[in-house]
Amino acid sequence: MVYVTRRATFSAAHRLYNPELSDSENDAIYDKCSNKHGHGHNYIVEVTVAGEPRVETGYVIDLKKLKEIVGREIIDKVDHKHLNIDVEFMQGIIPTAENIAKAFWKVLYQKITEGTLYSIRLHETENNVVEYRGE
Ligand code: NI
Repeated sequence: MVYVTRRATFSAAHRLYNPELSDSENDAIYDKCSNKHGHGHNYIVEVTVAGEPRVETGYVIDLKKLKEIVGREIIDKVDHKHLNIDVEFMQGIIPTAENIAKAFWKVLYQKITEGTLYSIRLHETENNVVEYRGE
Protein backbone atom coordinates (compact mmCIF):
# COMPACT_ATOMS: atom_id res chain seq x y z
CA MET A 1 0.00 0.00 0.00
CA VAL A 2 1.27 3.46 -0.90
CA TYR A 3 0.01 6.65 0.70
CA VAL A 4 0.02 9.88 -1.31
CA THR A 5 -0.76 13.24 0.23
CA ARG A 6 -1.84 16.53 -1.20
CA ARG A 7 -1.43 19.57 1.03
CA ALA A 8 -3.53 22.72 0.64
CA THR A 9 -4.03 25.89 2.64
CA PHE A 10 -6.99 28.14 3.28
CA SER A 11 -8.01 30.98 5.55
CA ALA A 12 -11.39 30.91 7.22
CA ALA A 13 -13.32 32.29 10.15
CA HIS A 14 -15.33 30.31 12.66
CA ARG A 15 -17.06 30.56 15.98
CA LEU A 16 -17.24 27.68 18.42
CA TYR A 17 -20.74 27.86 19.81
CA ASN A 18 -23.38 25.31 20.66
CA PRO A 19 -26.80 26.91 20.19
CA GLU A 20 -28.34 24.42 22.61
CA LEU A 21 -26.28 25.84 25.47
CA SER A 22 -26.43 29.24 27.15
CA ASP A 23 -23.91 31.95 26.38
CA SER A 24 -22.20 31.41 29.74
CA GLU A 25 -21.98 27.65 29.15
CA ASN A 26 -20.49 28.32 25.73
CA ASP A 27 -18.01 30.72 27.29
CA ALA A 28 -17.06 28.11 29.87
CA ILE A 29 -16.38 25.48 27.18
CA TYR A 30 -14.98 27.53 24.32
CA ASP A 31 -13.68 30.69 26.03
CA LYS A 32 -12.30 33.15 23.44
CA CYS A 33 -13.17 30.77 20.62
CA SER A 34 -16.81 31.58 21.29
CA ASN A 35 -16.41 35.33 20.63
CA LYS A 36 -19.61 36.51 19.06
CA HIS A 37 -18.28 37.56 15.68
CA GLY A 38 -15.81 34.75 15.25
CA HIS A 39 -12.09 34.70 14.59
CA GLY A 40 -9.86 33.31 11.87
CA HIS A 41 -7.21 30.72 11.21
CA ASN A 42 -4.78 29.93 8.43
CA TYR A 43 -5.52 26.25 8.03
CA ILE A 44 -3.45 23.56 6.38
CA VAL A 45 -5.21 20.43 5.19
CA GLU A 46 -3.45 17.22 4.15
CA VAL A 47 -5.52 14.76 2.16
CA THR A 48 -4.02 11.26 2.00
CA VAL A 49 -5.11 8.64 -0.51
CA ALA A 50 -4.02 5.01 -0.17
CA GLY A 51 -3.70 2.37 -2.84
CA GLU A 52 -1.44 0.30 -5.06
CA PRO A 53 0.22 2.24 -7.86
CA ARG A 54 -1.42 1.32 -11.17
CA VAL A 55 0.77 -0.69 -13.50
CA GLU A 56 0.04 1.59 -16.48
CA THR A 57 0.75 4.90 -14.78
CA GLY A 58 2.74 4.18 -11.63
CA TYR A 59 0.30 6.43 -9.81
CA VAL A 60 -2.04 5.66 -6.89
CA ILE A 61 -3.85 8.80 -7.97
CA ASP A 62 -2.49 11.51 -10.23
CA LEU A 63 -1.65 14.28 -7.73
CA LYS A 64 -2.74 16.81 -10.33
CA LYS A 65 -6.23 15.28 -10.20
CA LEU A 66 -6.17 15.15 -6.41
CA LYS A 67 -5.21 18.84 -6.37
CA GLU A 68 -8.18 19.64 -8.62
CA ILE A 69 -10.64 17.64 -6.51
CA VAL A 70 -9.45 19.18 -3.23
CA GLY A 71 -9.50 22.64 -4.80
CA ARG A 72 -12.96 22.33 -6.31
CA GLU A 73 -14.73 20.44 -3.53
CA ILE A 74 -13.06 21.99 -0.46
CA ILE A 75 -10.78 24.98 -0.91
CA ASP A 76 -13.02 26.98 -3.27
CA LYS A 77 -15.88 26.54 -0.80
CA VAL A 78 -14.09 27.43 2.44
CA ASP A 79 -11.28 29.86 1.60
CA HIS A 80 -11.99 33.36 2.95
CA LYS A 81 -15.38 32.20 4.22
CA HIS A 82 -17.05 32.05 7.61
CA LEU A 83 -17.46 28.35 8.28
CA ASN A 84 -20.56 28.79 10.46
CA ILE A 85 -22.39 30.89 7.90
CA ASP A 86 -21.08 30.59 4.35
CA VAL A 87 -20.33 26.91 3.87
CA GLU A 88 -23.25 24.69 2.99
CA PHE A 89 -21.67 21.41 4.10
CA MET A 90 -20.80 22.90 7.52
CA GLN A 91 -24.33 23.99 8.39
CA GLY A 92 -25.47 22.77 11.81
CA ILE A 93 -21.97 21.59 12.71
CA ILE A 94 -19.84 23.18 15.46
CA PRO A 95 -16.74 23.98 13.39
CA THR A 96 -14.02 22.58 15.63
CA ALA A 97 -10.98 21.21 13.82
CA GLU A 98 -12.35 17.71 14.55
CA ASN A 99 -15.67 18.45 12.90
CA ILE A 100 -14.11 20.28 9.96
CA ALA A 101 -11.89 17.26 9.25
CA LYS A 102 -14.93 14.94 9.40
CA ALA A 103 -16.94 17.22 7.11
CA PHE A 104 -14.10 17.33 4.57
CA TRP A 105 -13.91 13.54 4.65
CA LYS A 106 -17.62 13.27 3.93
CA VAL A 107 -17.31 15.61 0.94
CA LEU A 108 -14.19 13.98 -0.51
CA TYR A 109 -14.85 10.30 0.10
CA GLN A 110 -17.17 9.83 -2.88
CA LYS A 111 -15.14 12.10 -5.14
CA ILE A 112 -11.90 10.16 -4.93
CA THR A 113 -12.25 7.22 -7.26
CA GLU A 114 -8.58 6.28 -7.75
CA GLY A 115 -7.19 4.77 -4.57
CA THR A 116 -9.18 5.23 -1.36
CA LEU A 117 -9.32 8.23 0.91
CA TYR A 118 -7.18 7.30 3.91
CA SER A 119 -7.02 10.39 6.11
CA ILE A 120 -7.71 14.07 6.49
CA ARG A 121 -5.20 15.94 8.63
CA LEU A 122 -6.17 19.47 9.54
CA HIS A 123 -3.69 21.90 11.09
CA GLU A 124 -5.61 24.68 12.78
CA THR A 125 -2.57 26.31 14.34
CA GLU A 126 1.12 25.54 14.24
CA ASN A 127 0.67 23.29 17.26
CA ASN A 128 -2.85 21.89 16.92
CA VAL A 129 -3.52 19.13 14.41
CA VAL A 130 -6.40 16.68 14.09
CA GLU A 131 -6.58 13.61 11.90
CA TYR A 132 -9.66 11.73 10.75
CA ARG A 133 -9.52 8.31 9.11
CA GLY A 134 -13.21 7.60 8.72
CA GLU A 135 -15.66 5.69 10.91
NI1 NI B 1 -10.53 28.94 16.30
